[in-house]
Amino acid sequence: MTTIFSFINQKGGVGKTTSAVTLGHGFALRGYQTLLVDCDPQGHIATQLSLPKGPGLRHWYYEEQPLSKAMVQARENLLMLAGDKSTDRVLGKLREEQWGAAEFAERLCAESEAMRIQVVLLDLAPSLNHLQIAAMLASDYVIIPTRLRYTDLDGVSEITRSITETSRRSSKPKRYYLLPTFFDRVTKETAQRLTELAAAFGRQVWPPIPQDVKLAEAPGRGMTIWEYAPQSSGVQGYVNRNGKKIGGYETILSEMIRLMEGV
Ligand SMILES: Nc1ncnc2c1ncn2[C@@H]1O[C@H](COP(=O)(O)OP(=O)(O)OP(=O)(O)O)[C@@H](O)[C@H]1O
Ligand SMILES: [Mg+2]
Repeated sequence: MTTIFSFINQKGGVGKTTSAVTLGHGFALRGYQTLLVDCDPQGHIATQLSLPKGPGLRHWYYEEQPLSKAMVQARENLLMLAGDKSTDRVLGKLREEQWGAAEFAERLCAESEAMRIQVVLLDLAPSLNHLQIAAMLASDYVIIPTRLRYTDLDGVSEITRSITETSRRSSKPKRYYLLPTFFDRVTKETAQRLTELAAAFGRQVWPPIPQDVKLAEAPGRGMTIWEYAPQSSGVQGYVNRNGKKIGGYETILSEMIRLMEGV
């Protein structure tokens, strides 16, 4: 069984790509056969993995190459369907064809399943477009990374509405979770916003990813955070007043594995 997660938020710079790459490599390190799909013409999945950008997504969808031919090996157990400017052609085709998004979703599910890929993570561009609909249709779970500033929260309801609408058109039930990013323990601002978010969305709000300079440095060193600074707060979370570890990508990874395994 393949489980598909997509990382969606039309706001830019909220940690979509960082989350997809970090969690994708996290799954791979735990032995899961994992595929990262770059649905953003910026091609930042490859950049963050220190690999060249490429027309992988275009080759697979637009030129109908098999997934096995269009993707590349990024790390052990980690495959990548790269993106670059040519992803715009995929968008063009999805716009033109009435059933394009549904076909995209069906092909992705069937081909990942056939290749025995266990986890697929799709990274989306910061815009509302047809790839976002296609990714939602393909997904079992939508993850909405969001920063915790006042101005960052207004887009969240828009996405959740869109997920609910897409869910109605799909045979796969969809669930969504909010992933708060850039959490700052020092100032009260982000903690306050996190409380508001939890009041509105309850248990669909995951523990936060701390603001961590190591997460920003890792791509420049050509490494994922697991390779560059696995002990950093971005991975390990922070320790609260009661001595309890909160958040960080390690905790989120365990949460996602629980969802996948249905425990
Ligand atoms: N928790 C964090 N702490 C500090 N820096 C972070 C954190 N998460 C991401 N960053 C950095 O913030 C920048 C934006 O992150 P990222 O590229 O993951 O966002 P994005 O939502 O994918 O952006 P876009 O909308 O442009 O695709 C990057 O330079 C990244 O290294
Ligand atoms: Mg991105």
